[in-house]
This record gives sequence, C-alpha cells and structure tokens, in this order.
Amino acid sequence: MPIRVVNIVGTRPNMMKIAPIMEEMSKDGFFQPVLVHTGQHYDENMSKVFFRQLGIPEPDYNLGVGSGTHTYQTAQVMLALEPLLEELKPDCVLVVGDVNSTLAAALVTAKMLIPVAHVEAGLRSFDRTMPEEINRTLTDHISDFLFTTEESGNENLFREGVSEEKIFFVGDVMIDTLLRHKEVARALNMPERLGLNPKGYALLTLHRPSNVDRREALSGVVKALSQVQELLPIVFPVHPRTRRRLEEFDLWEELSGLPGMVLTEPLGYLEFLGLMQDARVVLTDSGGIQEETTILRVPCLTLRDNTERPVTLTQGTNRLVGNRPGDIVRAVQEVLGCGVQIGRLPNLWDGRAAERIVCILRNRLG
Ligand code: UD1
Repeated sequence: MPIRVVNIVGTRPNMMKIAPIMEEMSKDGFFQPVLVHTGQHYDENMSKVFFRQLGIPEPDYNLGVGSGTHTYQTAQVMLALEPLLEELKPDCVLVVGDVNSTLAAALVTAKMLIPVAHVEAGLRSFDRTMPEEINRTLTDHISDFLFTTEESGNENLFREGVSEEKIFFVGDVMIDTLLRHKEVARALNMPERLGLNPKGYALLTLHRPSNVDRREALSGVVKALSQVQELLPIVFPVHPRTRRRLEEFDLWEELSGLPGMVLTEPLGYLEFLGLMQDARVVLTDSGGIQEETTILRVPCLTLRDNTERPVTLTQGTNRLVGNRPGDIVRAVQEVLGCGVQIGRLPNLWDGRAAERIVCILRNRLG
C-alpha cells in the first residue's frame, strides 16, 4: 500500500513550495500524494496561473473557503477538512509556510492524531502583530516533522523546547522552484515587453497589513514611491488587498498618475521571476521575495522593521528599511550609488530541498 500524504495549499506563496514536493512524491509508487486546495486564494492570477506554470496537478479537492476574516478563513478550512481527512485516512498531512490555511489544516490534523509535516518551520519575526507569526509558531508546536530552511529556524525551535528528533534542516523548497524556472522566465523578456531596460528599473510588491491597512503608512509609502520613480521606473504588480486600500484611501489616482510607475495586475510566477532577475533593486514586504532576491543576487529593500528570514540579511542581499518615506528613498539612492552586490548563498539552498524532505518522510513513514 502506498503511503498516502495529503498536501495542503491555500494561497499564492504556497504554490511554489508545494510544486517540487508534489513532483518528488509522484516519482515512484511509494507515495500516493493527494492535493487539497483550501480555496483561500481563488482568482486566476492569485492561484490558477501558478498551477499551470509550475506544472502542479489539478487539486484533488477544493475546500472553496474564499475570503473573510482570519477567524472565518481558519474555521472554514477546519470544518471542511475534518470530514475529508476522515474519509481519506492519510498517513501524514503536509503543510507549507505560514498562512491561515497552514495553521487550520495543521490543527485539524493534529487533533485527529495524524502526523503533521511542516515545511518552512522555525522562522520567527518575533512580531506577534503579524498574523503569519501566530500561524507559524502554532503550526510548529503541533507538527511532527519540522523541515527548516535556515539555521536560525533550528535555533528558534530548540529555544522553544521542540524536540531535536523532529527537526530536519533541509533547505528551501521555494529555491528548488526558482532554480528550475529561472531560464524559462528569463526567455520571456519581461523588461522588454514593458518597455524597460534590464537593470534599469525597480520592482515593487506590497501587501502586508502593517503597510497597506493604515492610511498614514500607505500614504507614506506612496510619497516615497513618488520620489523613487524620479530616479528609475518602478514596476508594481498590485495585490488585490493593496488595490482596495489604495482606492479606499484615495491614493490610487495619485499613484497611477506618476509617470515612472508601471502598475500591473498580480503577475504569474514566470513573469514575476523574469522581472525580478533583471531588476536593479526590489522593494517588498513579502517574505519569500527576500529569499528569491538573495539567490538571484539582486539588492532587496524590505519595507518592514523585522524579518523572519535573517539569513537573507547576514548572507544575502536583503536590507530592512521600514516604511518611513525618507528611509526608503535614501536606501534606494544608496543601492543605485554602489556597484555589484555580492552575497553568499545560504547553506542547502541548492535546489534539492524537496528531495531531502521526501527522502526523510519515506524513511520515517515507510
Ligand atoms: C495571504 C497570507 C499572506 C501571504 C499572502 C500572499 C494569511 C494570514 N496571509 O494574505 O501570508 O503573504 O496571502 O498573497 O494567510 N483576494 C482576491 N483574490 C484572491 C484572494 C484574495 O481578490 O484570489 C482579496 C480578497 O478580497 C481578500 C484580500 O485579497 O480579502 C486578502 O486576501 P487574504 O487571503 O485574506 O490575505 P492576503 O492579504 O492575500
């Protein structure tokens, strides 16, 4: 009998993490991987395009939870997943990252006494105002296999009293996906398609509640952007949450009227990766992009005061700049004023993390 593993995805950043794991689990008949999409993200450009581009099979089940408050999303995933797990009786449930779907699925699974595997375990921003910090901390403490991406993750887990036997330092599955798709992404000639020169533009993403949900914070960022776009054009694929806030705070007209701003819908994985590789600088509040720019050796300015991925600061190309307009503009000027940035590649970010994870699960569950 093959080992049945239910793999959970819910949001955009989950897709690039699950892709290499599903691929690896499907290689021989040892595992029977089942894919469950919670439906937390549901749009074509927030979800479906990633399945197509990354070759992820259609989900076997979609829980269809959609948008709502954190409690609503978490509860809906739990209610829908419990009967499904009762029916499927998996040997293990694998969750990735730190979104509401991750915690909800882990909680249901642990209560049913089914082993939980958490990919991207141990990361800590030490900022409990971030919903992701609560999700990742709680998920770790009810998981049986904790797969970490960087050494800080191991240290955090040891400090929190997680037993050493449960912790496996395997590297970063998101980097597996990046290394696999880098060349295809480059061949799309994304800068050219947007009328930009390679290394002649900034790339921006923004969606954290701390930056977009309060008027002062968001208008401060817009103020900074209006100065930065005088230095170099900025490509900005706008997240639906951010778009809504920009409109609500009457900032959309101002932003879209700036001559150096190139606003787009959220982009597919390959299109975004293509743009990221050739950016002069990336400005972001995303977690994953801090890691991706480190591998691509593109300077990254993170518009937050903390990061749960400290290896991107100590070895990579990342710098924390917060969200004050003066600090953002100064940091961009500094990047533009200096030459090539050479970071070191973090340990085990070598494109083989999924292989390690699946090998460990095979040995332990087999
Ligand atoms: C979620 C994750 C965050 C991750 C981000 C990536 C949590 C707590 N947060 O935040 O960690 O970095 O996804 O995008 O799980 N919406 C659409 N179409 C969709 C999905 C969402 O229009 O396909 C809109 C909805 O109006 C929704 C809003 O975007 O209210 C926010 O979506 P939600 O899933 O609640 O959280 P994110 O901000 O995307």
